[in-house]
Amino acid sequence: MKVIYPGSFDPLTLGHIDIIKRLSKMFDEVVVAVLINENKNSIFSLEERENIIREEMIEEGIENISIASFDGLLVNFAKKTGIKTVARGLREITDYEYEKNIAMFNSKLMEGLETIFLLSDPNYSYISSSGVREVASFKGDVSSFVSKDVELKIKEKFEY
Ligand code: PNS
Repeated sequence: MKVIYPGSFDPLTLGHIDIIKRLSKMFDEVVVAVLINENKNSIFSLEERENIIREEMIEEGIENISIASFDGLLVNFAKKTGIKTVARGLREITDYEYEKNIAMFNSKLMEGLETIFLLSDPNYSYISSSGVREVASFKGDVSSFVSKDVELKIKEKFEY
């Protein structure tokens, strides 16, 4: 059975890596679906985000993963791929409120679509990509939130 793990991944955090690792043990294949949302606040381009995920998964030795990108509605990507299970991580109660709403919209838009939630590792439950972007924009230390490789790439981007 396959699962879609969608997100912006700008940047990929330690929390994302943990969820992907756990999903890879539960499903035959994890399709990481990267949202095409290039805007001026992005750190990494779509291609860079995809490459980072690919390299990180090689590093982690995770083989049952594929990386795709999508634009527009997630349900259209799900229909196109024929995958009916979507996974998201839940950090705090605020995530639940937001995610529940999206999951309900998605299940109305595509019959049979199920969204499953994995509780974030408590060590990572405060980490968000937007928080990392904020710290990075001020040339702060991001080493507790992202992998070494992502840290180096962030430092390259922000020249510190
Ligand atoms: O990493 P993120 O930014 O929290 O990921 C959010 C994402 C990409 C999963 C969500 O915004 C999404 O699925 N966007 C595509 C548009 C869509 O299908 N919206 C749901 C109906 S309201």
